[in-house]
Amino acid sequence: MCGIVGFTGKTSCCEFLLKGLSALEYRGYDSAGIAAVQADGFAVRKAVGRIDQLREEVEKNPISGVCGIGHTRWATHGKPSLENCHPHFDIDRRIALVHNGIIENYAELKAQLMEKGVSFVSETDTEVVAQLLAVHYENDMKTTLLKVLGMLKGSFALVILDRCAPDTLYCARSHSPLVIGVGQGCHYVASDVCALLEYTRNVYLPEDGDIAVVTPGSTVFYGLDGKERKRVNVTISWDTSAAQKNGFDHFMLKEICEQPQVIADTLAHYIDSADYTIRREHMPFTPEQAKQLKELTIAACGTAYHAGCMGKALIEQFAGVRTDACVASEYRYQTVVEQERNPEGHVFLAVSQSGETADTLAALRKAKQLGMRALAFSNVIGASIAREADTVMYTLAGPEIAVASTKAYLTQVLLFEILALDLAHLRGKISDEELKDALKTLMSLPRQIQSILNQRAIVEDFARANRACHDIFFIGRLMDYTTSLESALKLKEVSYLHSEAYPAGELKHGTIALIDERTLVAAIATQPQILEKTLSNMQEVKARGAYLLLIGTPPQTPIEGCTVWPIEDAPWYTAPLLATVYAQLFAYYTARQHGCDIDKPRNLAKSVTVE
Ligand code: M6R
Repeated sequence: MCGIVGFTGKTSCCEFLLKGLSALEYRGYDSAGIAAVQADGFAVRKAVGRIDQLREEVEKNPISGVCGIGHTRWATHGKPSLENCHPHFDIDRRIALVHNGIIENYAELKAQLMEKGVSFVSETDTEVVAQLLAVHYENDMKTTLLKVLGMLKGSFALVILDRCAPDTLYCARSHSPLVIGVGQGCHYVASDVCALLEYTRNVYLPEDGDIAVVTPGSTVFYGLDGKERKRVNVTISWDTSAAQKNGFDHFMLKEICEQPQVIADTLAHYIDSADYTIRREHMPFTPEQAKQLKELTIAACGTAYHAGCMGKALIEQFAGVRTDACVASEYRYQTVVEQERNPEGHVFLAVSQSGETADTLAALRKAKQLGMRALAFSNVIGASIAREADTVMYTLAGPEIAVASTKAYLTQVLLFEILALDLAHLRGKISDEELKDALKTLMSLPRQIQSILNQRAIVEDFARANRACHDIFFIGRLMDYTTSLESALKLKEVSYLHSEAYPAGELKHGTIALIDERTLVAAIATQPQILEKTLSNMQEVKARGAYLLLIGTPPQTPIEGCTVWPIEDAPWYTAPLLATVYAQLFAYYTARQHGCDIDKPRNLAKSVTVE
């Protein structure tokens, strides 16, 4: 969603602000703006639309200044317009600020300010904060900020400029991410580390409730009590090239093609290939805890939820632990049943690529309030979900820029494979030998994924041949149904085609009425015990005129007219990962056929930090 950047140093801030905003484009936005402190006031440039338009504005009317802020806005309060675009100001233009998140009590605060005669130029919740700071200004911005933060309800990351302190950025965060980068005689601020990678990898990760006073030479942290707080800077291992296209037309294709590498990296982190054992120091359960585990609740959104559904199947089948996979936005409001009030042996697990998804974070907080131990899978070190969880397992996918999640999904499922095998082993469900064999099987994944990627021209040809198809159903049973859900989501988000997933056996309870000769039905069929059943369902839709695609085990008796993308030599627990790679490529090439904005699909944001 929205993106924030800020710079204070001895050189012009403009270049970093524009480049930083470009690096945050992937998060989704509809307008962008920057402001810099100049001798005669704030210089401001804004544009509705893409960063390139903002860049053109700046080229037409260059701005100077060594301290500035910038923002990409994803409209919530008020339509995309120059008035609503950040930065926002107080009436006298003494204060400029950018904001991510939502000020929930903004209407009430706005009404109070209007009674005092303050007038507003935008419909945003953000402008209320700028006006509040001006009305309550006392001594200096830090003191004022402490006072005003106490009036705000909701989530926010704020970066503020005060003309009285022209080289200082005032930052505050509550439930919305912010990082501060340390440069040579300068400091950078951003809502996401991707904006900083070209400039520094030495960063502070402010915590909730922190205020940071950032000048070219220092960053000083304070708590809401006004007392100084010690924060340690860390080094981010992601490199610049990880956040660039490197010759690929789109980040989505680049990230699909990175999967052999990120799967290998994640395997190397969790598995010692010298003796095929799991590295205990990276696992969340001790042998004792594993034995005492009675129930696991997984909560996540979108693709991460689908990874959670895979996790449920893997953990139940391998380790025999009852597991629920919940959509986080539902879980957070669900009735708390008696069992959850006594969470002995009941563990919660949040799954999130960004580690910032608002609903997943709220679900994690609810579980903690109920007294559950809270685990998390996160791809981003220091993200809110990672910090608030009791124990984190990191996916080593590197920065995922395309809005459509691909490599993060595969690494999340891989983490579930490792966790399920570890629990199974610790609970005595599988022997040392069985564990080693399964880990060796996982180690084959990078090679197997690569061999699918090497055949991607076949998928591209199929997407071209079927470009006229407007309804696409994915069907499957058990884990194949989960892969169907993920395949349908991927396809619809990047190609805007109508696609749905159904449990294969459920079709004839209604949905089969939609099948005709203009429909493509893609069956995912990797699970040996129900293969024949899914094949029968394919015959049923074929009889009603559908085009057929099968991703999985090739049938012994070929189905006439059915295209097959084969998965061979993979057991039930790794075959779904391989099927997903085909589905990702299909979504990508179909979107290409339709000329869609693949990396930044309409209406979508990479990181959904509001409810
Ligand atoms: O960052 P998260 O994993 O928490 O994000 C969850 C979903 O918003 C995300 O997976 C979304 O569904 C993707 N666009 C799917 O490709």
